[in-house]
Amino acid sequence: MALQDQTRKAEKAISGDSSIAARLLAWYDAHHRDLPWRVTPGAFARGTRPDPYRIWLSEVMLQQTTVEAVKAYFRTFIEKWPTVAALAAAPAEDVMKAWAGLGYYSRARNLKACADIVAAQRGGRFPDTEAGLKELPGIGAYTAAAVAAIAFDRPAAVVDGNVERVVSRLYSIETPLSEAKPEIRALVEKLVPETRPGDFAQAMMDLGATICTPRRPRCMLCPVREDCSAILAGDPERFPVRLPKDDRPLRRGAAFVAERGDGAILLRKRPDKGLLGGMTEVPTTAWTARADGATTADAAPFPADWRRAGRIGHVFTHFALELDVFHAHIEGAAPVGHFWSLAHEISGEALPTVMKKVIERAIPGATKARPV
Ligand code: ADE
Repeated sequence: MALQDQTRKAEKAISGDSSIAARLLAWYDAHHRDLPWRVTPGAFARGTRPDPYRIWLSEVMLQQTTVEAVKAYFRTFIEKWPTVAALAAAPAEDVMKAWAGLGYYSRARNLKACADIVAAQRGGRFPDTEAGLKELPGIGAYTAAAVAAIAFDRPAAVVDGNVERVVSRLYSIETPLSEAKPEIRALVEKLVPETRPGDFAQAMMDLGATICTPRRPRCMLCPVREDCSAILAGDPERFPVRLPKDDRPLRRGAAFVAERGDGAILLRKRPDKGLLGGMTEVPTTAWTARADGATTADAAPFPADWRRAGRIGHVFTHFALELDVFHAHIEGAAPVGHFWSLAHEISGEALPTVMKKVIERAIPGATKARPV
């Protein structure tokens, strides 16, 4: 990153965060989505508080499901079980039935377990801190932060996929998203305002869902466009940066490391043409795209007391390969087309990396240079 950009980012991190939050909150006041579990913006300042039960229920439902799909389920649950005590009193079977269609059914089991604990052990009151919430079944780091912020107005950093996208663009984060999570979290922590942190969390979510969308973001309508480095860089859609998807096909096979009593290993030469042409290898099966079939000791080129030594992986340009490695001790002449490589000669053989991995899996250290 150019020094100028770095300085801009640092300046923004120090001076601009409060104004970013202020503009987002003003935008949220005017443009928030009306959702069945929400209270109107600024509720805490007016002395009204959201019902933690409704916030928790909605956040568990939203863990792997879209807002649109959750709305009807949320209404049904609230109608049937308006309080956490009512949910705790319900037969688990009824709760599972009402959940049917939302998917990820362990969420429903955890929902019930959590309701039971809150009702039986906590007088129906949810913990009001992230740490306390995280101790309950089905509440991970994200849900704990969301409930702490939205239900209790705690200054928690709530980072979901929408927020990751907004922040990666705001600060034009070049680190691929899979590695940028700690950086994004630290930036969100700096952005969270002292007043209205719950509304701020929901404003970030709404901005990501309605303006700062994955494709064709509506930057002209964005309340923080003047702060957005991705707009300055000219291509907001480039963020978050993603590593290219590895779409190589996976092939599988088995490799057989036969070892003689004196440490020699049985090798053969690959055909001159084709992949790894003319290189040396231990006997292997064909490398096929099939998951079944020739990856067991039955596929060995000759019978022996084959023991499975593990599996290795190797990535070629056009495919990824997984080989199950088998090891056996044998004696006698090498079968036709094979030769014995003495222990001190193995490191000098034309063994491609994939074959070194195979041999090392069966006999650690065998491919390293050894004294005669
Ligand atoms: N996604 C997860 N939690 C949400 C919330 N509280 N509002 C909108 N979208 C969400």
